[in-house]
Amino acid sequence: MFYITTAIDYTNGTPHIGHAYEKVLADVIHRYQKLKGNDSHFLTGVDQHGQKVQQTAEAEGVNPNTYVRRVTKGFSQAWEKLGLSYDSWAETTNPLHKSCVQQILNTLFEQGQIYKKQYKGFYSIRQEQFLTDKERNEDGEFGPEWGVVEERDEENYYFRLSEHVSWLREFVESHKDFVLPHFRRADVLNAIERSEGNDLCISRPKERLRWGIELPFDTDFVTFVWFDALINYISFAGYQKDPSSELPDFDSLWPANLHVIGKDILVPSHSIYWPIMLHAMGFDDAQIPSLLVHGWWNKKGGKVSKSEMTKEEAALMDPIHLVEIFGQDAVRYYLVRDIHTGKDSNYEPERLVMLFNTELANNLGNLCNRALNMTKRYSAGVTVSSSYDDASCQTLRESFAKTLEQYQTAMDQYEISQALTAVIEFITRANIFAEEHKPWEIAKDETKTEELNAVLAHMVEVVALASVLLRPVIPHACERIQAQLKAPELSELKLSELKWGVLPIGHEVAKPKPIFPRIELPS
Ligand code: MSP
Repeated sequence: MFYITTAIDYTNGTPHIGHAYEKVLADVIHRYQKLKGNDSHFLTGVDQHGQKVQQTAEAEGVNPNTYVRRVTKGFSQAWEKLGLSYDSWAETTNPLHKSCVQQILNTLFEQGQIYKKQYKGFYSIRQEQFLTDKERNEDGEFGPEWGVVEERDEENYYFRLSEHVSWLREFVESHKDFVLPHFRRADVLNAIERSEGNDLCISRPKERLRWGIELPFDTDFVTFVWFDALINYISFAGYQKDPSSELPDFDSLWPANLHVIGKDILVPSHSIYWPIMLHAMGFDDAQIPSLLVHGWWNKKGGKVSKSEMTKEEAALMDPIHLVEIFGQDAVRYYLVRDIHTGKDSNYEPERLVMLFNTELANNLGNLCNRALNMTKRYSAGVTVSSSYDDASCQTLRESFAKTLEQYQTAMDQYEISQALTAVIEFITRANIFAEEHKPWEIAKDETKTEELNAVLAHMVEVVALASVLLRPVIPHACERIQAQLKAPELSELKLSELKWGVLPIGHEVAKPKPIFPRIELPS
């Protein structure tokens, strides 16, 4: 079983393309695992607690519960539009999750892993945490990343993070694949150095924050939002579940194979708090999941948050709106095509339009259209066996093995863009092959019927193979292609069964309808 999760999105705003990217990336990996024949379970959801949510709800004059219900709906609608195929949906206000968090808190408290102390220090409202001198910059100030910082003197509960730091250092040093891509490991090791000697404040007094999970051993406090949120990865996987609940069987899912997260939440939450929480709960090293850390989509070097944009620009950041104007395939394709996993990229709707039109409409769409149209016109819609063969046919056939190898290597490394490059090159080769043989011309020459039949069968076959390889990224388009190929059974095919010849000669295809009508930017 492959178990994949994403970060759960804060419900203090609406979904934007950054959130959408992460979810599509995870969905592509999840669908690819199924294409490989693996069972895969995909969890995503929303992070509904915390001060920011309480503040936004207050600003709107509604209670936090009403507010998060509405915002949550916006997220789930966006993910439906994008065709995400998750199996479980995490909402941190779900009573099953709350009770799991409370059970864990109780256990850690009873084990002496959580204690109470008075602390006077600086608190970042934006990051919802106390800061130490290590967070000051060279000028001795707390940088702008911390937002408003105020001094506070209060009693809180602390988790003994510092007791486990040396274990964590060793773990990170000896588990190369804990953080992917590997270049991010240095950030984690640096953060471990900085965290030395500090415990984690895991409570917030209710007079300050009411919108959270109450501490089971002291009802004057709620749980720090990160401590609550991280637990979603196990609570919704059935950790210590009530046997009558419908949650999954924990032992069949855990450890998760991959937590897909953005680079901003690698440290300290996912690479320090989370492994230490699991370790303190008694999970052994083999039970600590790997992190796939993706980069950010930026807008003209800045953030994609909507605050400083015109209405039109903001609309092009909104995944629901994007799918409405460009369609699901274009948006999914762009989000994983124009970024290298782990690196940042600039979000440019012009490139979304350009990549869809050149790589899908003009390349794959054109091949599909030509192959099916000519098969319909010249051989009654049926591919015909042929004695014709030449070097160009052989090269095209042989190039599939290479394509498959490149695709699989890239996908196994979560390099979706590279995998797509391999498939697009294969389709381009098939279009060049068509240009060389000019089936529309040789169809007029009766002595070239054998060549015509061979060329058309090769073109149809490339469309069929591409429709299988592209399925994780653009599942709906591939379904439509397979319907036009009259080969719905291709959707059941596993990667290991994929080889030249998936469509038997003599197969009948349908009349093509454009799969990828060209798109343009709204004026
Ligand atoms: N609620 C926390 C995560 C808790 S996980 C136990 C959170 N939420 S978030 O809404 O701020 O971000 C959710 C995810 O979206 C994060 O992984 C973050 O990196 C990602 N992105 C937010 N903006 C992004 C871009 N502009 N580009 C790519 N991903 C970005 O953090």
